Amino acid sequence: MPTALITGANRGIGLEFVKQFKSLGYKVIGTSRGEWEGKAPLDGHVKLDVDSLPSIASLPGQLSGLGVKSLDLLILNAGVGIFGMLQASPPRWTTSLLAGPSDGMP
Ligand SMILES: NC(=O)c1ccc[n+]([C@@H]2O[C@H](COP(=O)([O-])OP(=O)(O)OC[C@H]3O[C@@H](n4cnc5c(N)ncnc54)[C@H](OP(=O)(O)O)[C@@H]3O)[C@@H](O)[C@H]2O)c1
Repeated sequence: MPTALITGANRGIGLEFVKQFKSLGYKVIGTSRGEWEGKAPLDGHVKLDVDSLPSIASLPGQLSGLGVKSLDLLILNAGVGIFGMLQASPPRWTTSLLAGPSDGMP
């Protein structure tokens, strides 16, 4: 059975990816910053904040703890969208979108 990891799985497009890939027969591991809200069946859950390098670094260990040795599909869905003028958006969002994780960055 192929294994998929979907970030930002608790809601929105990520949650829909969970449902779709489960229906296609994938073993689906979902990530979220908080607790898994259980809006769809999941084969495993790990906590992940894609804006935090320590959180990202914890991912392999968390996956090993679930017995996941390899991934067949990785969907990097977690994130925020900016609509409208970039200059009108909160600077923190813009930095996050353009630079990725902000902690530990020079
Ligand atoms: N909806 C659209 O029309 C559209 C169009 C183009 C692109 N997109 C992109 O598609 C993705 C999903 O959009 P959506 O509409 O489903 O958004 P959404 O409903 O706001 O959901 C965003 C998801 O990303 C997670 N997330 C946000 N920041 C995170 C972080 N720092 N670390 C880990 N998870 C984080 C949220 O987790 P929490 O539950 O923990 O907050 C949530 O699960 C986004 O990257 C967005 O930019 C969406």
